[in-house]
Amino acid sequence: MFNLILFGPPGSGKGTQSEKLIAKYYLKHLSTGDLLRSEIARKTPLGIEAKKFMDKGQLVPDEVVIGMISYALDENPDANGFLFDGFPRTALQAQALDKLLDLKHTFITVMLALDVSEEELVKRLVKRGETSGRTDDNNEQVIRTRILEYNKKTAPVAEYFKKANKVAMVKGEGTVEEIFSALVKEIDPRMKKQKPSTDINPNK
Ligand code: AP5
Ligand code: MG
Repeated sequence: MFNLILFGPPGSGKGTQSEKLIAKYYLKHLSTGDLLRSEIARKTPLGIEAKKFMDKGQLVPDEVVIGMISYALDENPDANGFLFDGFPRTALQAQALDKLLDLKHTFITVMLALDVSEEELVKRLVKRGETSGRTDDNNEQVIRTRILEYNKKTAPVAEYFKKANKVAMVKGEGTVEEIFSALVKEIDPRMKKQKPSTDINPNK
């Protein structure tokens, strides 16, 4: 299995690049943001609770997102590997992820960290807020809170994986294609090194 974390602040392009990466490598995309928005759309108790935090730009409590990821891992026993987008976001989530993968006799191969200036992040999210309908995009104050939460609670998560020598920084500014190529350049050699257990089966 090849499991990677696409890491970066709000608006750094995690979702955009995830779509391209899962198509190329046949990975299962696990975005906690998307999973939470789906719970909100279905008006589940979890979604109703999570919305209170998301609308303010704050992180949803750890136990909620860890439970969702645990469930999603169990739901996909035949996956070639997982692409984690927007998870883990706290030290506790990082430890929980390692434990969950360990139970499945697998591990994180690499964390790819998108590097984008704060000015560019705000510009992208304000622009998306004009059309996305995402309640956390259409207020600049909420966007700033999301970035603050990231700097305070999420950025340190990279240190956890740096200790295991698993972090690769990638410039997250430029065209979508340029950034995708830079990500592929980091993934391909690692994937080769990890064979034979990472054979890609597009039918899975
Ligand atoms: P989540 O859904 O994860 O959102 P986010 O991290 O705030 O980031 P975005 O999804 O907005 O940005 P992105 O990096 O995916 O970039 P994108 O490709 O969309 O989380 C939302 C909320 O859910 C959190 O605030 C929290 O409350 C909660 N939550 C989620 N996970 C959690 C967790 N693990 N723990 C606790 N709480 C959690 O691109 C952004 C924009 O830029 C788009 O318009 C795109 O078209 C554009 N763009 C992309 N690439 C480029 C480029 N190269 N040049 C120009 N524009 C570009
Ligand atoms: Mg996203």
